[in-house]
Amino acid sequence: MQNHKLPPASLLFIFGGSGDLNYRKLSPALYNLFIDNWMPEKFGIVGIGRTEYNDDNYRSKLYEGIKLFSRRKEDNSGHWQQFSQHVSYMKMDAEKEEEYQKIAGIVKTKEQEFGEHPNVIFYMAVAPQLVPDIAKKLGPLNICSDTKCTRIVVEKPFGHDLASAHELNQLLMSMFDETQIYRIDHYLGKETVQNILALRFANALFEPIWNKNYIDHVQITAAETVGVEGRGGYYETSGALRDMVQNHILQLICMIGMEAPVSFEADEIRNKKVAVLNAIRKIDRDDAHDFAVRGQYDEGWMKGEKVPSYRKEKSVSENSNIDTFAAVKFYIDNWRWQDVPFYIRTGKRLHDKTTIITLQFKPAPHFAFPEEATETWRPNRLTISIQPEMDIRLRFQAKRPGQFMILNPVDMIFNYKDAYDGNEPEAYETLLLDVMEGNATLFMRSDQVEAAWKIIMPILESWETRPPVDFPNYAPDSWGPEDAEALIARDGNNWITLPPLHQE
Ligand code: BG6
Repeated sequence: MQNHKLPPASLLFIFGGSGDLNYRKLSPALYNLFIDNWMPEKFGIVGIGRTEYNDDNYRSKLYEGIKLFSRRKEDNSGHWQQFSQHVSYMKMDAEKEEEYQKIAGIVKTKEQEFGEHPNVIFYMAVAPQLVPDIAKKLGPLNICSDTKCTRIVVEKPFGHDLASAHELNQLLMSMFDETQIYRIDHYLGKETVQNILALRFANALFEPIWNKNYIDHVQITAAETVGVEGRGGYYETSGALRDMVQNHILQLICMIGMEAPVSFEADEIRNKKVAVLNAIRKIDRDDAHDFAVRGQYDEGWMKGEKVPSYRKEKSVSENSNIDTFAAVKFYIDNWRWQDVPFYIRTGKRLHDKTTIITLQFKPAPHFAFPEEATETWRPNRLTISIQPEMDIRLRFQAKRPGQFMILNPVDMIFNYKDAYDGNEPEAYETLLLDVMEGNATLFMRSDQVEAAWKIIMPILESWETRPPVDFPNYAPDSWGPEDAEALIARDGNNWITLPPLHQE
């Protein structure tokens, strides 16, 4: 393994320590960082929650989650024994101000034990409505006068709309400096998403054609086969547009659309990304139906299993108008992208679990081939598979072997599994390590979050004022409502699904 510098001594307080996010994602991520020798030499992890645990049964509970969800399930090398010694649990009612002194007490104890002042990280793995209140109580603790050593990590959703996101930003920034606030978008931690920057800016090949002169349109599909998975309570306040588009998908658009950064400084990258968001054409509320389509899944069959409609899911209203599917056509008004449509779609209970980005190129300017040669002609395409396949495919024309001149499309494929050992870190590993190291490049700055809300607000407002008349409007195991097909077909295009590897 490469030699690397370890992050400084760190103390992590996980609010929501007994919750699902910690169980499925955070603990497995921290554990894998430990196995890969990325955790600081001195560290402590304190789970905070209302459930009754002692340290031992809390650790056992986390280990259970690790065995289920970690990318490394079995471990016989004693890593868990060592790692778990750093983990403890504190039962605390986060609503009671006086309880927060316990946190200050733990920081003091650890300071003595470590022989230095650790970075103190407050991770908000709690319901979004609790974040402002907890932050208000953490602010006055004055854990450390140096702004570099305390950090607060805030999960999405960051706000419910533009106004609430702005309010939350104001509140956090009244207690923490922007450099101390880490707003998570876990898509940015995915290897395949980070690789977009490498593909674009470490190669001279793509950049000259990465613009409106050569690209016909861009598509992003982020499809899931699962329903709301017991998260009906949250989803009823959210919907696909808020849950996936405001954050993950707009971030993917930024990665594809941004100008070349001058350096990898956090603010440089974030400036370039926010410039894309600011250039996205504002959709007029009254024209939203021309640019955006919503859907909600019905009951039906999913891979041989009968599944309920969204309206029959737990904690969901039987008249719910919440979108479980959204498709939008965006434009970026700048020199690079003027009039190139960016079609995006996302939804639950769709046919496949797949996230792909496709850049479809314009046709070759002149065709010298005989007509019969071009019957199977297709435009060039660059497809970036984010998950679960992790690959990049470049489609171009080749001559089919034989005595006839017949062209057909072939793929040149870079596949992570073939090229590397297939054991890449999970998004949360990368992001947690960045927080400990104090690197905010992959986190959302306040202006990014607000710019993203501004883009989707007119669609949300339009949907709220005009209740859908056709919900539920798509069957499980489909690709969403028919209107989504029409949205893209109007421009003479169609949604691209990824053919299985080595097939067209
Ligand atoms: C989360 C959403 O942010 O992303 C979920 O709240 C969604 O509804 C999830 O299922 C998808 O993440 P991934 O990494 O599986 O694509």
